[in-house]
Amino acid sequence: MKITVIGAGNVGATCANVIAHKALANQIVLVDVKEGLAEGKALDMWQTASVNIFDTRIIGVTNDYEATKDSEIIVITSGVPRKAGMSRDDLISTNAKIVKDVTQKAIRYSPDAIIIVVSNPLDVMTYAAYLSSNKHHSKVFGMAGILDAARYKSFIAEALNTSPRDVQALLLGGHGDTMVPLPRYTSVSGIPVSQLLEQDEIDRIVQKTRQGGGDLVKMIGTSAWYAPGAAVALMVEAIVHDQHRIFSICAYVNGEYGIRDIYLGVPVKLGRTGVEKVMEIELDENEKQLLYDSACSVRQLKKTLDGMKLF
Ligand code: LAC
Repeated sequence: MKITVIGAGNVGATCANVIAHKALANQIVLVDVKEGLAEGKALDMWQTASVNIFDTRIIGVTNDYEATKDSEIIVITSGVPRKAGMSRDDLISTNAKIVKDVTQKAIRYSPDAIIIVVSNPLDVMTYAAYLSSNKHHSKVFGMAGILDAARYKSFIAEALNTSPRDVQALLLGGHGDTMVPLPRYTSVSGIPVSQLLEQDEIDRIVQKTRQGGGDLVKMIGTSAWYAPGAAVALMVEAIVHDQHRIFSICAYVNGEYGIRDIYLGVPVKLGRTGVEKVMEIELDENEKQLLYDSACSVRQLKKTLDGMKLF
């Protein structure tokens, strides 16, 4: 298994590191535009192999897509990250061009690869990668639901003083302020969260989850990377081991939930062939409205992408 990670910034490097630690690939190629950055980070990671005990060969290259040839999975993290005060949407004009460029270059050498997009604004950048790749939408998708759910789970675990691993949760919608955490589909080892926390505490956690990425940007001055990198690696694991896992990812919806032709956070079954199925869960009126509002804001942003006439 050969995996390419494009963008050797914090998210890309962390993702490569977690993939190596989980022994998901025998080779990882880290690509960046900045001379020496991918080479240096890859070398640093490779030098942990005998300490952390893994075999994955990690190499770094500057813009050398030939080195990525025959990758089975390509993770795209390229683009400028948010700075304090910026929304994910502010990045669209710069990042759309970058995502188009790297997708086309990578796909030339690995036409059969599955593509996972991480660049922001995620839902629209995933659409941009889909259009650039000419691949079936089951092979092109984005990472956000696992990250957003992980943040949500961490807040619930904190409030209950329990382990985050016992929290099951589902989240829908765009990767932004309109994301839709679903308390009705949240439980702790099977116990509905509504039996464990007061409604106002749940509401507070939902709001904290929505602004989770932004709060981290305020604290660090740039986008987060540990949880995003680990979340991508979990998707890679589901694909590599053909696990048929169910979790929310940024997937193409074409009629599911009454929404058509956008990429949006929805639960899917994920395995070796990519998205096997978009899962349609039952939503109440309020949840449906929140999902439609979120889809509307993603569609609005997609209009900006359309207006750029890149495709
Ligand atoms: C975040 C970025 C990865 O939510 O969008 O931290």
